[in-house]
Amino acid sequence: MDLLQPSNIIYVNGKKTIISNVDHDITVLDLIRTNLKLSGTKEGCAEGDCGACSILLHDGLNSELKPVNSCLVRVGQVVGKGIVTIEGVGNDIAPHPIQTAFSEENASQCGYCTPGFIISGISLFNSNKKINDDTINDAISGNLCRCTGYSPIIKAIKVASKLRKPLKTIKFLEHNKDIKLGNVTYYNPKNLEEMLKLTAHENYNFLAGGTDLNLRRPIVNEKKNVIICLDSIVELKINKITNDNLIIGSCVSIEGFLEIVKNKIPQLVEILQRFGSPQIRNQGTIGGNISTSSPIGDLAPVLLALNSKINLFGHNGDTSVLLRDFYLGYRKNILKKDQIIRSIEIPLPNGGYKFFCWKLSKRYDQDISTISLSIYLKTKNNIIEDIHIAAGGVAEIPKYLESLCKIMTGKTIEVSILTAINQIDKFVQPISDLRGTSNYRIESLKGLFKRLEKCLKENSNTMSIMDFKDE
Ligand SMILES: Cc1cc2nc3c(=O)[nH]c(=O)nc-3n(C[C@H](O)[C@H](O)[C@H](O)COP(=O)(O)OP(=O)(O)OC[C@H]3O[C@@H](n4cnc5c(N)ncnc54)[C@H](O)[C@@H]3O)c2cc1C
Ligand code: FES
Ligand code: FES
Repeated sequence: MDLLQPSNIIYVNGKKTIISNVDHDITVLDLIRTNLKLSGTKEGCAEGDCGACSILLHDGLNSELKPVNSCLVRVGQVVGKGIVTIEGVGNDIAPHPIQTAFSEENASQCGYCTPGFIISGISLFNSNKKINDDTINDAISGNLCRCTGYSPIIKAIKVASKLRKPLKTIKFLEHNKDIKLGNVTYYNPKNLEEMLKLTAHENYNFLAGGTDLNLRRPIVNEKKNVIICLDSIVELKINKITNDNLIIGSCVSIEGFLEIVKNKIPQLVEILQRFGSPQIRNQGTIGGNISTSSPIGDLAPVLLALNSKINLFGHNGDTSVLLRDFYLGYRKNILKKDQIIRSIEIPLPNGGYKFFCWKLSKRYDQDISTISLSIYLKTKNNIIEDIHIAAGGVAEIPKYLESLCKIMTGKTIEVSILTAINQIDKFVQPISDLRGTSNYRIESLKGLFKRLEKCLKENSNTMSIMDFKDE
C-alpha cells in the first residue's frame, strides 16, 4: 500500500521543520538532540523514569501543552504535531520568568535535570489547574534531581507562578501524518475503516501512546515494517457518560481518564494520580494499559472489581467480552492479530455499595505497583451481602478472585475478613521479584484487608494509602 503525499513536517519551537534522513527507530529525543542539534533537552534513563528529556507536545489547534518524555515517543508519532523544547522557552537574552527564578532561587546545581523541571513547571502554567503545593508536586513527580534537592526547585516554580506566564504556541493544521522512515512506515489512520484496510499488510504493530511498546528497542524488526498509530482514530476517543456507566474510548489518555472519573468514580483518583507521572499519563492510554496485559497494570484490578466489559473491533466487526475473560496468561490476551480494543465499558458504582482501591509501590509517585487490591462490596446489618475483589501483582495475570469472594459472602464483616486473611494464600500465588518477595505480597494483602475492616467499621470511604499512620 503506497502512501498518498506523505507529510514530513514537525513544528519545533514554532518553526516548520522538515524531517529527512531519519532512521525508523529513533526517538524524538534523538531527533532533537542529534539531528536538530537542540541539545538543551537531556537524556538520563531513556526509559521514562527521570524526566530529563521532557518536552511539550501540542496539536496546533489550542494552547494546551502536554509534557511528555521525548525518549518514549517515536518520530513517526509526532509528524504533523508541534513540540516545544527548552530552547523554545527562553534564552540568556530573553529568559522566561521560570528560568530566571531557577537561577535566582539556586534551583540548579549540575543542571542536568533543570530543563526537564522547567518544562514541567511551564506545563502547569499553560494548564487550567490552580497552582498550589499539590499541583506543583504532581507536575514535577516525573522529574528526578540528584543534587540540588527539591525545596529550591519548588520555591522557584512558586516564585514564577506569581506571574504565571504561559507559553504562546503557533496555530497550524496538518492532516496527513503518514511517514516512511527508513524501512518502516508509520500510518496514522483517521477512522476504523482506514485502520482495517491497513491490516492487509503482512506485518504490523499497533501503537497507541508508546509508553510500553517504545521501551522495546528496536520497536520493529526487519519483518514488522508497518506501525499503525491508533492516536488519530476518531472513534477511539469517543466517550459516552450515562447515569449507569462510562464508555471510554481506548485511546483516551490516562490523564484524560482521570479528568472524566473525578466526579463519577472519585475512588479512582488517587490510583490515577499515582500512575507514572504527568509525562506518562499524557502519552499512555487506557487501551494500551489493558492490552499490555501486565499483571501489575494499575487499571485492570479496578476495572475487574467493577465488572467492566471491553468492546473489540476487527475484521469480524464489533464484539464484546467481560474483562474477566480477556487475559490468557503472562502478557497474553484474547486479541486476534487484526483486533483492537475499541472502548471500555465501566459500570458506575451503585449507591448501596462501597468501593475501595489501593496500590502499594516502592515509591508513592512514578512507580508501578508491587500489589494492588480493589474491592466493591455491599453490607447490611454488619453482613457482607455481595463482594467483588480483584488484585494485581498476585499471579501471572490481573486476577478477579471469584472463589475468595464466595467464601467472604454472607458472613459478618469481622468473620469474613478474618477468613480472607487466614486463607489468602489459597487464592493468590505471588512471585518474588525485585519489587517484593512473595511473602511480602501476601502480608501486604492481609494488611489491606485489615484496612478494609477499619474503613467499614468507621463507615469511612477513606482510600489513601497514606491515611493510616498509626497502623
Ligand atoms: C516510567 C513509566 C511509568 C509507568 N507507570 C505506570 C503505572 O504507574 N501504572 C501502570 O499501570 N502502568 C505504568 N506504566 C506502563 C504504561 O505507561 C501503561 O501501561 C500505558 O497505559 C500503556 O499505554 P500506551 O498507550 O502507551 O501503550 P502502547 O505502548 O502504545 O501499547 C502497548 C501495547 O498495547 C497494544 N495496544 C495499544 N493500544 C491498543 C488498543 N486500543 N487495542 C489493542 N492493542 C493496543 C500495542 O500494540 C502494544 O502491544 C509506566 C510506564 C513507564 C515507562
Ligand atoms: S531520559 Fe529519562 S525520562 Fe527520558
Ligand atoms: S541539578 Fe543536578 S540533577 Fe538536578
